[in-house]
Amino acid sequence: DRLPELLRRMPKAELHIHIEGSLEPELIFQLARRNGVSLPYANVEELRKAYAFTNLQSFLDIYYAGASVLLKEQDFHDMAWAYLRRAQADNVLHAEIFFDPQTHTARGVSMETVVRGLHSACERARTELGVQASLILCFLRHLSEADAFETLEQALPLRDRFIGVGLDSSEVGHPPEKFARVFARCRELGLHIVAHAGEEGPPAYVWQALDILKAERIDHGVQSPKDPALVRRLAQDRIPLTVCPLSNLKLCVFPQLADHNLGRLLDAGLVATVNSDDPAYFGGYLNDNFIQTFAATGLTAPQAWQLARNSFEASFVDAAAKRRYV
Ligand code: ADE
Ligand code: ZN
Repeated sequence: DRLPELLRRMPKAELHIHIEGSLEPELIFQLARRNGVSLPYANVEELRKAYAFTNLQSFLDIYYAGASVLLKEQDFHDMAWAYLRRAQADNVLHAEIFFDPQTHTARGVSMETVVRGLHSACERARTELGVQASLILCFLRHLSEADAFETLEQALPLRDRFIGVGLDSSEVGHPPEKFARVFARCRELGLHIVAHAGEEGPPAYVWQALDILKAERIDHGVQSPKDPALVRRLAQDRIPLTVCPLSNLKLCVFPQLADHNLGRLLDAGLVATVNSDDPAYFGGYLNDNFIQTFAATGLTAPQAWQLARNSFEASFVDAAAKRRYV
């Protein structure tokens, strides 16, 4: 069977990767030692054993704890560089990378430290790896609108180092409308807009992300088929969904990979893409997501090419570059 080989070799874009979710246990311990941070786990094996999640929140608690070892600009650079090398190995030509500044600024790390460290790794990837990468700043939705506004303010001097904003963290109970005014300001600033919606939350949150935040892409969106009118809207406006199959499996959004609705989303004509979300925590980078999902659901080569094309169509590269990719 040559499908896994095709999936590995296809050129692709990754559009839903949280850089803090690429922090492997080995690097967590290395940075903890380097920075004199103590961890509530004795070693890498013990930490990995804690990676048994029941839902989104059970993951987020451990994900924010892991990020506590990041203090210096070099730490952010090293984390992003490790991901970008891994992405190159998966034939990722273009990556749009989420980062969660509030996780760091709340611990006294400056916005400048975070953004400069991540951005220098993206620049280095272009010259040393031939991988094109850009940054998307995510607001944590469990925090207040005022906190998001303050975060945007802190990021504005670094405006040329990120291309857009997103919305992530605990979904249920924190609807997109909570951030209507921040996202309106971001649109005025010419930033691209994306939002996590319909990962665990209802179709109503996806509608809000589209109609209130004016999201250009929906991150996850796998709950959308519960509302046929929403599926028609997503198809009509060619709003991409950045789907993350192994994440959905590990966070119990679907009981088994075989139950995943990726194939049905494609059949409905949606611009679905495959992504890794938090690869260090969910057991696989981008090619693992493709290979395992295709094996479990019986997707075929034409759908593989469709997903690869979708990933470039859904990206924020300019129209001329898109034509070269697609
Ligand atoms: N932050 C990191 N991964 C996330 C996910 N899958 N959903 C919401 N917030 C996140
Ligand atoms: Zn995510």
